[in-house]
Amino acid sequence: MTTPTTTAAENPAPRDAGSAVLDASGVTMRFGGLTAVRDVNLSVRAGEIVGLIGPNGAGKTTFFNCLTGLYIPTEGTVSYKGTVLPHRSHLVTQAGIARTFQNIRLFANMTVLENVLVGRHTRTHEGLFSALVRGPRFRRAERHSEDRAMELLHFTGLADKRDHLARNLPYGEQRKLEIARALASEPGLLLLDEPTAGMTAVETTATRELVLAIREQGTAVLVIEHDMRFIFNLCDRVAVLVQGQKLLEGTPDVVQNDDRVIAAYLGTPFEGEPGEAEAAEVRAAEEAEARAAEEAEAATTAQAARADQPADAPEGKAD
Ligand SMILES: Nc1ncnc2c1ncn2[C@@H]1O[C@H](COP(=O)(O)OP(=O)(O)O)[C@@H](O)[C@H]1O
Ligand SMILES: [Mg+2]
Repeated sequence: MTTPTTTAAENPAPRDAGSAVLDASGVTMRFGGLTAVRDVNLSVRAGEIVGLIGPNGAGKTTFFNCLTGLYIPTEGTVSYKGTVLPHRSHLVTQAGIARTFQNIRLFANMTVLENVLVGRHTRTHEGLFSALVRGPRFRRAERHSEDRAMELLHFTGLADKRDHLARNLPYGEQRKLEIARALASEPGLLLLDEPTAGMTAVETTATRELVLAIREQGTAVLVIEHDMRFIFNLCDRVAVLVQGQKLLEGTPDVVQNDDRVIAAYLGTPFEGEPGEAEAAEVRAAEEAEARAAEEAEAATTAQAARADQPADAPEGKAD
């Protein structure tokens, strides 16, 4: 994670990709008299990172819930790789869509590794009987699952926390763990609902790098986020939801300069090179960290030098 200023422009989606991974068509969700999502069409192609933005209450999370089978849309269909998805979340996960939640949902009293192993269950075929008997096939599958889970913990930078309880992780690492757990189901599409909420600038930058790495590994990403710098720096395409409707969709450049978006959502024009302010914040934080490390090292060296002196050294105090 040493290139904080990496942008989507430097990491273009493979242009030969392009077959639709996700295809949401005419999705409408009503709750009684309230239409939270209205006739939304959205597709995500292989190799793409697509952003979904909009003010609070615009219907973004509700739309995610419609995509993942948590809600049955009042109208419309959702297809994954050309097949219409059933309205059951575990079947959607099995089909290849994984998600994280706006409000973190981890098994707080399980370890980091166990949380990722839970995420793998849709990909293991061992049944209950096999698990009870714990025969060689089960043990082999279990070992394979654990290897893959550890790979994901390395990938997300959590390997040294494998035995920590999820609830003891700092907030930013809990968000990472949710991503690791989602990836454990080997998704073709990952949905992230506000992945950087509550993160520091340094953590946000690390998350951007992580999402780019996830795309490199062949998983398309659809991400909801309020942090505009994060979205405009990361995404190939951005869709704007306002009052349940898609206001427009386009490249970050088009979206951030659209008058309707500025009026409806951003309030004021989005000025400056996207990411510059954030990059400066990150640099300052990194410099402070480096200084602290240097000071700590100097203190340790001084302490070691004192410890090396003979016990009857002149500076030693009498007991
Ligand atoms: N289960 C629900 N029942 C009733 N209304 C809901 C439900 N979920 C969301 N809403 C309403 O739908 C609208 C969109 O909410 P949400 O999708 O959470 O917005 P966003 O994620 O864009 O902030 C809000 O007015 C919210 O109160
Ligand atoms: Mg939301």
